[in-house]
This record gives sequence, structure tokens and C-alpha cells, in this order.
Amino acid sequence: LQELAQAFTVLPNENKASDARREELIDKPAFGQLFSDSMAHMSWTKGEGWSDRRIEPYAPLKLDPGASVLHYAQEVFEGLKAYHHADGSVWLFRPDANAERLQNSARRLYLPEVSIDDFLGSVAALTMQDVKWVPTRREYTLYLRPFIFASEPFLGVRAPEEVEYCVIASPSGPYFPGEIKPVSIWVENKYFRTGPGGTGYAKCGGNYAASLLGEYRGIEQGCEQVCFVDAATQTYLEELGGMNMMVVHKDGHVETPSLTGSILPGITRRSIIQLLQDDGHDVVETMIALDQLLEDIKSGEVTEVFACGTAAIVTPIGRFKSETFDIEVNGGKPGELTMAIRNQLLGIQLGEIEDPHNWMWKV
Ligand code: PLP
Ligand code: COI
Repeated sequence: LQELAQAFTVLPNENKASDARREELIDKPAFGQLFSDSMAHMSWTKGEGWSDRRIEPYAPLKLDPGASVLHYAQEVFEGLKAYHHADGSVWLFRPDANAERLQNSARRLYLPEVSIDDFLGSVAALTMQDVKWVPTRREYTLYLRPFIFASEPFLGVRAPEEVEYCVIASPSGPYFPGEIKPVSIWVENKYFRTGPGGTGYAKCGGNYAASLLGEYRGIEQGCEQVCFVDAATQTYLEELGGMNMMVVHKDGHVETPSLTGSILPGITRRSIIQLLQDDGHDVVETMIALDQLLEDIKSGEVTEVFACGTAAIVTPIGRFKSETFDIEVNGGKPGELTMAIRNQLLGIQLGEIEDPHNWMWKV
């Protein structure tokens, strides 16, 4: 990583926070509200490709009001974390997987791809530059947000000829603050985030904009997250607004919705499938019908349900609610396997237990 980072030139920064100020800020930050001193940046034009790889002061972007992204949402992004280990070293979790997914997302939005090396180099260079912004408190991390957007001032709808790629870094606490308590999920059956042939598998800003109306219908009903069902038949569970989902059966096998094209292929999801299989659990990627799930929860066939993602890590689900049902999972308490897999994943990320698949990359 250190070698790839050298492609990014570090520009002078007069606006760095003082040591005392930074230490105060990163002691107990909320999720995604605070930003470090620097950002990674490179620019693309149709003729030249990517150039001007740099680490520059974190500052507002200069953007033409005609920039395509502001009109047609040509934007894709990633999310990954830098973890502080007890010996003072800093590590990234599977950044190569994020790099690959950003390429898949860019292709779907007709944006230029960032090479794997540039992705790894940019996140490493930024993390190295702002390494003092990585929180040391347990479960607090430096959340890295790489993103690509069309900056060309042009109101025609077409592939952009000018594009920017940036990485910003946010010292962050847990996505769901406070002690671990199961979240309530609103099952949305009216407003969908995507549909067949849509952008569901791509991590693009538009998916999140489209999720908000459903999410807020849930919030009005006292729920913390929204669960989308498939738009075509409204029968099968897909994922939450910002997380994938896993269902634990009483015989210990685990089911998770298959990657149909409408679901984001989560890196946490993929990692948990691997850890469960390592541990002898059967994991089935399948279409999970909502009606069947509700029945299985009621009968005790399904004992736990949890959400998983970079921001959420592993979060137990304690309740499913909609206009027509309101049902508790596992008496509203965190499940045993849910907490075991959470501890195992977090243990690997924090360097507390062995990393059998070499998922951690030292910065
Ligand atoms: N699904 C959605 C819609 C997400 O936004 C995320 C978060 O990135 C995930 C799933 C989980 O993906 P990952 O585990 O790669 O963070
Ligand atoms: C992530 O987990 O990285 C995400 O992008 C989810 C978002 C809701 C913060």
C-alpha cells in the first residue's frame, strides 16, 4: 500500500487542526459528522484519462452549477474503515474488494473506472497523511469515503467528459449509537429503491435518495431502518437502506437474499458468509419470501435476524413492522449467533484474533 500511495503528491496544508483540538474531536465522534485535515483527489478528462493525483487540504469543492452530477446524479461511492490496533498500527479491511465494487458501480453509471492501484493508493495515502485522525477508542474508526462524480458543466444527458475522484475521511463512532440493541425494521411495500435492471447492485447516490421516502415512512412508525422487498413481485426481501440482511434458523443454518442485481453485494455480507462456513454453518443464498419469514419467526423456526455492513458492522434486528403486521424477533433481544459473528468479525478487524483469510491490509 505504501508504494501505491506514492503516486499521490502531498500538497501543503495550512489549515490543519492543532493536536489538542484533533484529540478532543476524535475522542467520541458520532458517525459521519466530522472530517479530517486532508482529502485525496484526482481528475479525469475524456482526452487525458486520470491525472493530478494529490492529497490536498480538506475544503469545499469548487463546482460549476451546471455540473452534470447536480442534475443527473452521475455519482458512485464506496465506504471502508481504517482500524487502530493495540500496537499503534493502522489497517484497512478488504480494500481490494471496495476497489473492485467501485469499478462495477462506475460501469453501471457510465462513469470512468478508477484503477485498483489508484483506489488503493488514494485510500492509503490519505490514511497515512491523516493517521492521527484514526480514533483509538474501541469500535471507533476512520471511515473512508471514496467517490466519483461528473463535474463537467453540461446539461445534455450523456457520458461526462470531465470527472473527479475524491476520498474524504471521517473519524466515526458506531452507526447506531449507544449499547448494542436490536433495531426495528420498517418493511416498505410502496416505494422501492430500485427494480429489475436498475442500479441496485451499484453503490450510487441515487439509490440512497430513492430510499429516503420509504425510510421516513418507517421512522414515522418508530423504526430505525427500512427493508425493501423486490419491486417486481413485492414478495421477496432484498436489503435494508444501508445494510444487507441475514436470517438464522433454529438448526443453525443461515439464509441471506441472493444477489439478484437489485441488492448491493456487501463486503461484510461476503465475509460473514465465509466466517459462518469456516465454522461449519450451512449458508444459503436464496430468495426469502416475506410471508414465509414472518411465519418462521412466529413458529420459532427462525431464531435470529441481523443486519450487516461496513457502517453497521453486525446489528441485531428485533422487530419487523409494516402497515399490516408488527412482529418481534427473539423477544426483541440480540441473538447468540448474531453476537458471536459480530465479535469474530470485529476481532479480526481490530487485530484481536487471527485473520485466517488475510483480509487486513496494513497501511
Ligand atoms: N447494502 C447497502 C444498500 C449499503 O449501503 C451497504 C453499505 O455499504 C451494504 C449493503 C453493505 O455493504 P458493505 O458490507 O460492503 O459495507
Ligand atoms: C456503509 O456501510 O459504508 C454505507 O455506505 C452505508 C451508509 C448507510 C452509511
